Amino acid sequence: MKNNGNVIEKIVSLSKRRGFIFQSSEIYGGLNGCWDYGPMGVELLNNIKKEWWNSMTLRDDIEGLDASILMHPKVWEASGHVDNFTDPMIDCKQCKARFRVDLLGGMLNEKRKKKSVRALNENCNESELKSKIEKLLSENNEVNAFDIIIEDEQLSGLLLQELNCPQCGTKGSFTQARQFNLMFKTFIGPVEDSGSVVYLRPETAQGIFVNFLNVQNSTRQKLPFGIAQIGKAFRNEINTKNFLFRTREFEQMEMQFFVKPADDKKWYDNWKEQRMKWYTNLGMNLDNLRFQNHPENKLAHYAKEATDIEYNFPFGWGEIEGIHNRTDFDLRRHEEFSGKSLKYFDEEIKEKILPYIIETSAGASRSFMAFLTEAYSEEEVKGEQRIVLKLHKKIAPIKASILPLVNKDGMPEIAKKIEEDLRFKFKIFYDDKGAVGRRYRRQDEIGTPYAITIDTQTTEDQTVTVRERDSMEQIRISSDSLSAFLHEKLST
Ligand code: GAP
Repeated sequence: MKNNGNVIEKIVSLSKRRGFIFQSSEIYGGLNGCWDYGPMGVELLNNIKKEWWNSMTLRDDIEGLDASILMHPKVWEASGHVDNFTDPMIDCKQCKARFRVDLLGGMLNEKRKKKSVRALNENCNESELKSKIEKLLSENNEVNAFDIIIEDEQLSGLLLQELNCPQCGTKGSFTQARQFNLMFKTFIGPVEDSGSVVYLRPETAQGIFVNFLNVQNSTRQKLPFGIAQIGKAFRNEINTKNFLFRTREFEQMEMQFFVKPADDKKWYDNWKEQRMKWYTNLGMNLDNLRFQNHPENKLAHYAKEATDIEYNFPFGWGEIEGIHNRTDFDLRRHEEFSGKSLKYFDEEIKEKILPYIIETSAGASRSFMAFLTEAYSEEEVKGEQRIVLKLHKKIAPIKASILPLVNKDGMPEIAKKIEEDLRFKFKIFYDDKGAVGRRYRRQDEIGTPYAITIDTQTTEDQTVTVRERDSMEQIRISSDSLSAFLHEKLST
């Protein structure tokens, strides 16, 4: 399905039809960059978060935390977000569309990029700039040179005069690029002045850093140890795009692992490996995942080493998680700005030290979209199309459906009894509406691994059929053994 250009549209359509994702405030025309998780979506999202939470906290060296979304404004000065959390933004003067300069390349095809670089090279008469462009062209092909040019402030200014607006097509109608801070501002308390400005957190990580010693003192953890947190984050993205991929409100699953400075490389490599395994253990094909290391000149202001785990979305490779060696940057900055010590007493060397931090920062919403994309498949069965979400059993929203073949002859009564027995053990779905074939298709579309059918034979010998989602094979088992059967199948 990956090569099918329409696959995102198909996933968006299935998401609405089956109750995974709805547009936020849809009846008012929607709110850009915000989405609501429907009955199936919230189950899938919760299962992803539960798998992540268990993988992090069912061990003795990681503690959990749930910090508040609103934090003291100094936090964001110390973290560097007030000064550095910006994207370069341009507007089209003609149609008023707004673009992130560094994403402009992604909106243009290769032909357009080559044409732009050539036009720039011809029209650029300032000799220093011209030689700069020629150098880029000799070292890179025209398409790569475009991306480098767009990141260079001086060159991108010139290039923008040569480019057509991707929305209305007008040439050279862009404003100067300016830096736009992505944090949402609001006011705390009744007075709306500069003294009461607070921000909606753009990442959950800072809540962990400022609580480092609270957690360490209360749990008596020794280095190395981690703190894990799941929560909402907000970024006023200039361009939201690709469904759940870049939104203004989203959820992160972040874990900060505090280590002795000399052990940073060992733990960075260790967490890279562990995090990649988490995705493959939940059914992602390794061919659709890769590490993308950040080159030294592109590292974030806090990072010594960084890599992204990328997923091969239908629109191309995209980051779903960042793994960073943040050194002691965050603790040092919070010490400086708060005037409070955040040092840890190392009993081995009898000295106070500032630990280094290895961060694993995953997007719950982006992982959700990656898992959905990975699972989406279309098959032909007996001349008819079958859409099936081949979700890993652990994250599937519904674990089993209960389907009485007909609504008479004692079948609904037996089905209800089975439902009663299973309801509090597994997330199940009771469906007695329509032809059974249609009911199977509905369950396939939401990724339910097992469908239990109650038929005439059940009324005679108390056996039911269990249909497996991917193979569509059916077996007959005693209704008494259903709970043990599901328990065994779902835990392996
Ligand atoms: N604490 C480090 C940090 O926040 P990041 O690379 O900016 O690093 C981490 O974000 C993860 O959060 C990303 O890999 C992505 O999965 C998710 N994320 C970031 N911005 C997002 C957005 N606008 N919409 C959805 N998910 C986003």
